[in-house]
Amino acid sequence: MSDKLGRNDLCWCGSGRKYKKCHALIDEQTETYRLKGYEVPHRKLLKTKQQIEGIRESSKLNIAVLDFIGEYVTDGVTTEELDRLIFEKTKELGGVPADLNYEGYPKSVCISIDDVVCHGIPSDRVFIRNGTIVNIDVSTIYNGFFSDSSRMFCVGDVPSEKRRLVDVAKECVGLGIEQVKPWGFLGDIGQAVNDHATNNGYSVVREIGGHGVGLEFHEEPWVGYVTKKGTGMLLVPGLVFTIEPMINMGKPNIKTDKSDHWTVRTVDGKPSAQWENTVLVTETGHEVLTY
Ligand code: MF3
Ligand code: CO
Repeated sequence: MSDKLGRNDLCWCGSGRKYKKCHALIDEQTETYRLKGYEVPHRKLLKTKQQIEGIRESSKLNIAVLDFIGEYVTDGVTTEELDRLIFEKTKELGGVPADLNYEGYPKSVCISIDDVVCHGIPSDRVFIRNGTIVNIDVSTIYNGFFSDSSRMFCVGDVPSEKRRLVDVAKECVGLGIEQVKPWGFLGDIGQAVNDHATNNGYSVVREIGGHGVGLEFHEEPWVGYVTKKGTGMLLVPGLVFTIEPMINMGKPNIKTDKSDHWTVRTVDGKPSAQWENTVLVTETGHEVLTY
């Protein structure tokens, strides 16, 4: 993080302002933490004003697609049909589904029902059914900027046990977001999420987490939920990442489908719920880009 930049030089972020009026203070503060042995983000992870604007616009498109798909998530529809609708809507709005062809992923969205934890592949053989809980995870590229968010949908008469899981999973993300502020730590988020899930008798998936996002689909940092307060990467203004814990009704153990290599399920067959938002660390706190 050391820099040869003079205080009157133009800031490295491209704002056009003098360094001393722009990132100088943030860099100094970050350096203090680094010297104390804390993990600090590389400068390249701190988004500039223009980049933030791009990610914000991409995020708007992402949530527009989620808003759009809601009414179609009904008993009898195939996940293939939902995938087609999402592909077309994204195109119509001028975006590209980030999932499509990502590391060989064959579809435009992930749709995960009941015991599917994440990365459910849309198929004409998978029907949405009354009483199920469904995660729709949409990721979009717009003008080269990436956004990522997901929501749960309760289809028809969902047993109260499962509804409660969906509600608590949403609360977990909210509590995680509350922890996002400059000079906090990634671990603060993980602890808040984990405490709330376990206090409600649930468990949190350990192997899969959130991630930096914006210039690429998956950037540093990795955002886990078995982390402790006051540990992990320092939160610095300009960081953008997702919070997307998977909350299991039963045990945390998961397995990946041996034939499609994507679909992740709970080992005990009990349901799992997940919500995802993209969050920006600001100078005063945070901004949820995907609300
Ligand atoms: N949208 C997922 C996430 O939240 C990633 C899906 S990658 C895919 O990070 F290839 F499965 F689409
Ligand atoms: Co994500």
